[in-house]
Amino acid sequence: MKRLLPFALLPVTAFAQDTPDYSKMKADELFNTLCSSCHGKDLNSGLGGSLVDGQWKHGDTDADLRKSISEGNAQLGMTPFKTVLSDDQIRQLVIYVREKEKEALAKGIEYPKPEPGKVTHTDHADYQIEMVVENGLDIPWAIAFLPDGRKLVTERPGRLRLMGSDDTLDPQPIEGTPKVIHHGQGGLMEVAVHPDYAKNGWIYLGFADGERDGDKVRTITKYVRGRIKDHQWVDEEEIWKADDRFYGGDGVHFGTRLVFKDGYIFFPVGERGGWKQAQDITNAKGKIYRLNEDGSEPEDNPFVGQPGAVKGLWSYGHRNPQGLALDPRDGSIWETEHGPRGGDELNRIEGGKNYGWPIITYGMNYDGTPITGETEKEGMEQPVIYWQPSIAACGLDFYTGDAFPGWKNDLFAGALAQQEIRRLRIVDHKVTEQEVILKNIGRVRDVASGPEGALYVVLNDPHRIVRLVPAP
Ligand code: HEC
Repeated sequence: MKRLLPFALLPVTAFAQDTPDYSKMKADELFNTLCSSCHGKDLNSGLGGSLVDGQWKHGDTDADLRKSISEGNAQLGMTPFKTVLSDDQIRQLVIYVREKEKEALAKGIEYPKPEPGKVTHTDHADYQIEMVVENGLDIPWAIAFLPDGRKLVTERPGRLRLMGSDDTLDPQPIEGTPKVIHHGQGGLMEVAVHPDYAKNGWIYLGFADGERDGDKVRTITKYVRGRIKDHQWVDEEEIWKADDRFYGGDGVHFGTRLVFKDGYIFFPVGERGGWKQAQDITNAKGKIYRLNEDGSEPEDNPFVGQPGAVKGLWSYGHRNPQGLALDPRDGSIWETEHGPRGGDELNRIEGGKNYGWPIITYGMNYDGTPITGETEKEGMEQPVIYWQPSIAACGLDFYTGDAFPGWKNDLFAGALAQQEIRRLRIVDHKVTEQEVILKNIGRVRDVASGPEGALYVVLNDPHRIVRLVPAP
C-alpha cells in the first residue's frame, strides 16, 4: 500500500462532481488530463515511468497496453480506467502512446536520404539516385512504361504526359484525354499500360469524373481505356462508371490504381468520405472491383446475383486504397490503404471478403478523437500489417527487375506524409522484413519497377521523377 499514489486512492466517484467530458477530448488532451500526472506530458517521466522508451514491463502488444490502461496496476499504483473511459477512448490512448513511442524511437535514426551521385547502402542493395524529370510536372500521380522505353505520367490537374525513351518530357500533353474534375484529392490519377500493349495498344486511366458548376462539384472515380495515336487519345471505351447517385462533392478518398491479372483488371474506388457506405454492397464507394479487361463483369465474381450488388464488386470495407500490386510469384493481390490516423493498412485482397472499414480499424480520427475500440471482428479481414503512426500509404509495386537481385520480388510501398519508401519482404503472405530505403526527398506518390531494373519514384513537393539504379 505504501507505493500507492494519492491520486490512485481516490475512489472513482470522486471524479464525478467535476468530471470533464472525456468523449469530447482529443487524444493529447485526454492524456494530459488523466495520465500526464504520473507519466509526464512528454510520456517519458514521472512516477509511472516512460511510455516511449520501447521497454514494456507489462507486455508490448496493443492488447497489453489496453489491459494496462483498462485494469491499471493496484500494486504499483496505476488507476484502472475501465470505469472512467470507454473502449473507444482506451483505444484512442493506445494509438496516441504508440505514436509517441515510435516518434521517440525514430529520433536519432539516420534514414537513407539519397543525393544524386551519392551511394546509399541498404540491407540488400546499394543504390544511386538519378534525376529523371526535375522540372515541368505539376502533381505527377502515376507512371507507366511502354514497351519501347517511353513512359506515361499523369498529372493530377488532368494532363497525360509522354516521356521519350531518353526521358525527355514532351512539353505537349496528350490531346483529347477525358475531362477530369480536379478537386481536393481527385483529378487524373492512374495510368496503366496493358501487358499486351504491343499487340492491342490499350492504355487504362483512372480519374475523378463528374461535373463542376461554379463551386458545386459532383464527382467520383471512373475508369476508361483508350489508345494514343499521333499524340491524340482515341478509341476511348468506358470501363467502369458509378451510378449517378454516387457522385458527390467531397474532395477526399478517391482511391485509384489498376492492375492486370489473367485477363482481368482489379481497381479500387475509395469511400469518398462515406464511411459506412464502404460496408454496403449496393453502394459503389469503398470497394475493390474485378472486371474483364473490356469492362464486362466475370460471371464468377463473388457478388453476382446478389440483389443490388454493384457491378464488378470483388471486396468491400475499404477506405482509401491508393496502392495495388500483383505478386509476380503467385498472383496474389496486395493493397495499401490510406487509413485514419494510425490505421494505414497493408492488405492481401481476396474475392468476396470484407476488410472492415469503418466497423473495425486500428486508427482514430485525424484530430485525435476516437473512432472505435474494435480492431477485429468475425467475418472481417485483418490487415497483414498496419502502420502507427500513419505513413500515408500511396503507390505500391513488386520489384520484378534484375538490376537489384537482393530486392527481387520485394514489395515497395510509397508514403506521402512520411516521405519514404518501405521495402517489405513477403514470405508466405507475411511481412518478414520492413526497411525504409529512402526518406525525406519529397512525398512519394508512386513507386514502379521499371525498364532496365530501375525503381522509379514519382514525387510531389517538389514535383519530380527519380529512379534508383545499382551503385557502380
Ligand atoms: C496514479 C498514477 C498513474 C496514472 C494516473 C496513470 N498511470 Fe499508467 N502506470 C502507473 C504505474 C505506477 C505503472 C506501472 C509502472 C511499472 O510497472 O513500473 C503504470 C503503467 C502503465 C502502462 C504499462 C507500462 C509498461 O511498461 O508495461 C501503461 C501502458 C500506462 N501506464 C498507461 C497509462 C495511461 C494511458 C494513463 C492515462 C489514462 C495512465 N497510465 C495513468 C501510474 C499511473
